[in-house]
Amino acid sequence: MQAYFIEFANFMLRWLHVIAAIAWIGESIYFVMLDNGLRPPKAAEDREKGVFGEMWAVHGGGFYHNQKYATAPAKLPNDLHWSFWKAYTTWLTGFALFVILYMVNPGFYLVNPGSDWEWAANLTGWQANLLALAFLLLGWVVYNELCKRISPNMERDGLLSIAVAIMMVVVAYLSTQMFSGRAAFLLTGAVMATAMSANVFFWIIPGQRRMVKAMKAGETPNPLDGKRGKQRSVHNTYFTLPVVLLMISNHYSFAYSHEHAWVLMTLFIFAGALIRQYFVLMHQGKIRPAYPVVGVALILVAFWAGMPATSSAPSGAQTAGSGPDITEVKALIDQHCVACHSQSPTQPGFSAPPAGLMYDDIEQILLQKDRIQQVVESGYMPLGNMTNMTEEERAVIQAWTE
Ligand code: HEC
Repeated sequence: MQAYFIEFANFMLRWLHVIAAIAWIGESIYFVMLDNGLRPPKAAEDREKGVFGEMWAVHGGGFYHNQKYATAPAKLPNDLHWSFWKAYTTWLTGFALFVILYMVNPGFYLVNPGSDWEWAANLTGWQANLLALAFLLLGWVVYNELCKRISPNMERDGLLSIAVAIMMVVVAYLSTQMFSGRAAFLLTGAVMATAMSANVFFWIIPGQRRMVKAMKAGETPNPLDGKRGKQRSVHNTYFTLPVVLLMISNHYSFAYSHEHAWVLMTLFIFAGALIRQYFVLMHQGKIRPAYPVVGVALILVAFWAGMPATSSAPSGAQTAGSGPDITEVKALIDQHCVACHSQSPTQPGFSAPPAGLMYDDIEQILLQKDRIQQVVESGYMPLGNMTNMTEEERAVIQAWTE
């Protein structure tokens, strides 16, 4: 019953999370487009009012005329539209999902028993949970410090972007060493997503509040607040594509159970940022195909790097003769997989077969042969190597699939 409850909550939270994220990211992409697509106002009276750029648009059968003020209009309307709940809802539901998916079962989902770092391979569930929280928090602290120290007055934003890019490579590397592959992809995405939401919460919204307050008091708002809001929201726009990729990565075990998963992750992150850059420039009227070309090239490199090695015949007795027979394989799968992958799982915490895969009978096993081989070879399954499947046993599965 408890497992079912968690599963249901997961389903509903994910729905909300995706909807909030679509609304937030959609709005953010829209405003970046608007900002970059502004043209100098045509009417002299608009220029006198302090309008700095405008955009005409047609959408949903109506015509829209957006205007942006250089600093602010002479008088602010009372019904100013603010956007922040979409960002907060996305983060809160995302974090809740992380708790019920990963932190409830850290032994399976967070710990990386194959880590090169012995201490990481031997973490207890609670230690892994705390490490994951610290990882998220530190990610924000480091990113925020980089922004504050390198470009406090938004004067060295180019250098800052390089620093943030390097930071993301380090995050990708550390996460794959400290956490299981699937969690590592998710947590790297979550480091960026946390920075995005925290940018809204700690800088963009408070800055806007200070500006509005100053204007209401008849003072000139501090231009740094506006510039910083812009700096952080520009960062957010480059984070969006990589974050969405990492968030949907959890079904693609070829990527995160790869030996050098952090390299694949880095390639995808840079590809996403470069592709985003193309669109940002395009809205400014600059067409720079080099960005998406390099972005797609990085994706192709990831494709090539992630390709499974053409299975060379494993050494050992199994390859001789006709290979292991299906009853031997079935026995291994009963022992190592069926507690979870069954019509009615016996493993606590599972109310339904994970990923919809059940290996209760031989037919089902035969149908899933290739997938079984792939996840057993990469070491992704059994999850967290909970049942301590040995290399010899993995070799039996390998020999059978050949
Ligand atoms: C402790 C529970 C557990 C055990 C034991 C387990 N699995 Fe899984 N398995 C899962 C979960 C949870 C998922 C879904 C994870 C995901 O979405 O990537 C999964 C996903 C899979 C997938 C789909 C992965 C993909 O990338 O699409 C395959 C194939 C699989 N398991 C095979 C196996 C095999 C074969 C064994 C035994 C050698 C096994 N599992 C043992 C929990 C388990």
